[in-house]
Amino acid sequence: MNIEKTTAIILAAGQGTRMKSTLPKVLHTIAGRPLVHYPVRAALDAGCGDVVVVVGHGRGDVEKYLAAAFGERVRTAVQEQQRGTGDAARAGLSGVKPGAERILLFYGDVPLLSADDVAAVAKKLDEEPGAVLALATCEVPDPHGYGRVLRDAAGNVREIREQKDLRTDTERACREINPGIYASSVAFMREAIATLQPNNAQGELYLTDIVAFAGSAGKKVAAVPSRAEVLAGVNDRRQLIEAEDAMLARIAERWRVAGATVRTGARIEDGVELAPDVIVEAGAVLRGKTKVERGAHIDVGCVLTNVTVGEGAALKPYSVMTDSSVGPRAQIGPFSHLRPDSHIGEDAHVGNFVETKKTCMAKGAKANHLAYLGDGVIGEAANIGAGTIFCNYDGFQKHTTVVEKGAFIGSDSQLVAPVTVGAGAYVATGTTVTKDVPADALAIARVKQENKDGYASKLRARLEAAKAAAKKAEKK
Ligand code: UD1
Ligand code: CA
Repeated sequence: MNIEKTTAIILAAGQGTRMKSTLPKVLHTIAGRPLVHYPVRAALDAGCGDVVVVVGHGRGDVEKYLAAAFGERVRTAVQEQQRGTGDAARAGLSGVKPGAERILLFYGDVPLLSADDVAAVAKKLDEEPGAVLALATCEVPDPHGYGRVLRDAAGNVREIREQKDLRTDTERACREINPGIYASSVAFMREAIATLQPNNAQGELYLTDIVAFAGSAGKKVAAVPSRAEVLAGVNDRRQLIEAEDAMLARIAERWRVAGATVRTGARIEDGVELAPDVIVEAGAVLRGKTKVERGAHIDVGCVLTNVTVGEGAALKPYSVMTDSSVGPRAQIGPFSHLRPDSHIGEDAHVGNFVETKKTCMAKGAKANHLAYLGDGVIGEAANIGAGTIFCNYDGFQKHTTVVEKGAFIGSDSQLVAPVTVGAGAYVATGTTVTKDVPADALAIARVKQENKDGYASKLRARLEAAKAAAKKAEKK
């Protein structure tokens, strides 16, 4: 088959009643992406010249997702009323461009299928002499819920019968099921779809009836034995999680083969990249466009969303980072929070209970304990003491705090932005910095300390007497 002249039609208009959800079924996520993402990607990776997704229930949201994720590479066709998979296929066909020769049709709720699985069905259509239709089939131990592939005495595929329409125990015992990948010419598909009738248990137009149509017209149907995995259709939450577990296991396996240690219980979502010698510990969650360079260590419970981690960086337990970057050999955590637009330079340290937002820390800068660093620019090797706050918000606007190269900010200081502490300057502990500190200056803003000799015991005697007097008054 000329895959260029093949249009993939992916059915994704159903509500997914069994999900019991307000969200359309195909937008429920597995491994960080909506269900519909995976079949669409399989179609594109297989090289289909055109991809049409049939949308209906929750159409606006599904279209929005597809446009954001795939842009012009994917088109949609609308099925106004969800009258069954056959009706959805008809809607999809109406969107096929003139010049398309073949149709490769599958379901939007089957996330584990790959480009190879669908390409194999397309290929079979070409290779099997006289076949008008090719379809995938699987042998499974528990066929319940799936359409059964029924064959005649000679072993030819005759019909697919849905679970609710099974008539005999022999039919029910049939373990060959229909995962739902079909290939045919555009002409055959149009002809077959036009004959569908809703005379079945669900009163729907079944796409699967095109198989019996081919048989009744004396035409050949070719079956392609497929991996049982491609079957995993998601109809309810239990199947959603089963499919997700399989997908996560597949992703973890891929990175292990590529040389990363992904511990059991680490969650690496689709789209994340790991270099060799990365270690990801149990309970870590890596999402979105997260990319981890060689030798970095992501410890227990870290949650990274769209984060770049440099070579050899150490992310200690329970650090949460979003839309940020961490330089080579930097150390973060435990319990650090990097909010969007935090960029931590090489060899820099961010310690426990430090929160950053829209802040850059240059090479070797340190903020080891308890700090809020918002809208900051921190120079090379600067040291931010425990308890430091960048007061970036005046209730109306955000302002920037600049701490230049080599400056030292003493513990428990507040830097009221906009403000700059010059290179090598020293801010004394407990200082509230409200105006710029020149390079190499010492800024100190606190009450001078006074020591009164012998005052502690006098103070204690006075407080004791006051307490005794209060007790006496209470008794009266
Ligand atoms: C379908 C097959 C069944 C197969 C199983 C594999 C039919 C009649 N049955 O059953 O043989 O074993 O898939 O997973 O085809 N959809 C629409 N419009 C509709 C109805 C459904 O677009 O009017 C879409 C859904 O969004 C879904 C897909 O088609 O993505 C499959 O529909 P679903 O109702 O889940 O079919 P199954 O009962 O799983
Ligand atoms: Ca299904």
